[in-house]
Amino acid sequence: MSDRQVTGEGKHDDTLVGPRSIAAAFITLLLMTGCADNSASMLNAAGPAAARINVLWWFMFAVGTIVYVVVMGYMLVALFRRRSGDFDEANPPNEGTGIVVWGGAIIPAIILLGTFGVTVFTMRALNEPEIADDLIIEVTGNQWWWDVRYPELGFTTANEIHIPVGEPVAVKLTSDDVIHSFWVPKLHGKLDLIPGQVTEFWLEASEAGVYLGECAEFCGVQHAKMQFLVIAQEEGEFRQWVAQQQQPAPEPGNELVQEGQEVFLDSSCVYCHTIKGTNATGDLGPDLTHLASRRTLAAGTIPNNRGNLGGWIVAPQNIKPGSLMPPTQLTGPQLQALLAYLETLR
Ligand code: CUA
Repeated sequence: MSDRQVTGEGKHDDTLVGPRSIAAAFITLLLMTGCADNSASMLNAAGPAAARINVLWWFMFAVGTIVYVVVMGYMLVALFRRRSGDFDEANPPNEGTGIVVWGGAIIPAIILLGTFGVTVFTMRALNEPEIADDLIIEVTGNQWWWDVRYPELGFTTANEIHIPVGEPVAVKLTSDDVIHSFWVPKLHGKLDLIPGQVTEFWLEASEAGVYLGECAEFCGVQHAKMQFLVIAQEEGEFRQWVAQQQQPAPEPGNELVQEGQEVFLDSSCVYCHTIKGTNATGDLGPDLTHLASRRTLAAGTIPNNRGNLGGWIVAPQNIKPGSLMPPTQLTGPQLQALLAYLETLR
């Protein structure tokens, strides 16, 4: 019997995962979370605000680690320490009161106060810096997309915020329906978008690049598909983008595009969407004047290309169930003409 047991255990070791492989897998996972530096991790700060939040995070992580190690150390000592032989049940010794007072009250109070102090200091440092008021960005949260206005520059876009690199930019947030939360982990902390209220914020990127933003407050079934991009550009490139966005949509240059524009203007699209330079002035959905210049469709749900755009127009509910975009009934040629037109909206 005991022989069989030994054989059984030997087999067990060969086939099942041992603690060493679990540890190896865990460490690999930890390392992998560190290497994706194009991720949206707040630990890869790319702006002054995120860098400060990063310092606070590491400070709290260090304090938490020290407290954990010390407490676990005491626990291990307590586990393995034997009682001295002459322990008197009826009259227990009074030692240990000091450690309860210091370890249970005074030291935790000092640690919590210190952490609170550093947090308040960080929050003060995150106060809005000097911002030139010629560039304000108004962002309105909608289920489930972001309306982005540049009131001083006179244009509207969606789900994509361009900013000049190295310059703090004021962002005013509000919501048209429920509470959303604006979060670009590499640039700043989160801030809520509240219906009927305007919350103010600022963004600054130290390096040119594309930063992923997400809605960080559960806001309905498609909360997970409510993303946006912050694109930080060198001054010249940014000004070029602004100049392009300020233009109305180009006039159709050929017959197919002309036909596509007619399909658009004759359909129900016009009740929800604006294309500047045409009669379409709806404002329930994203402004489409420069749709083709944007990288994604449906708030980061799919890349913006002809195939996805066609699928989105014909069957949006398959791509983002619950979205307010209704399906559009079109014949094949009508859809092709419409796509040809929308592709000219650069
Ligand atoms: Cu909007 Cu979650």
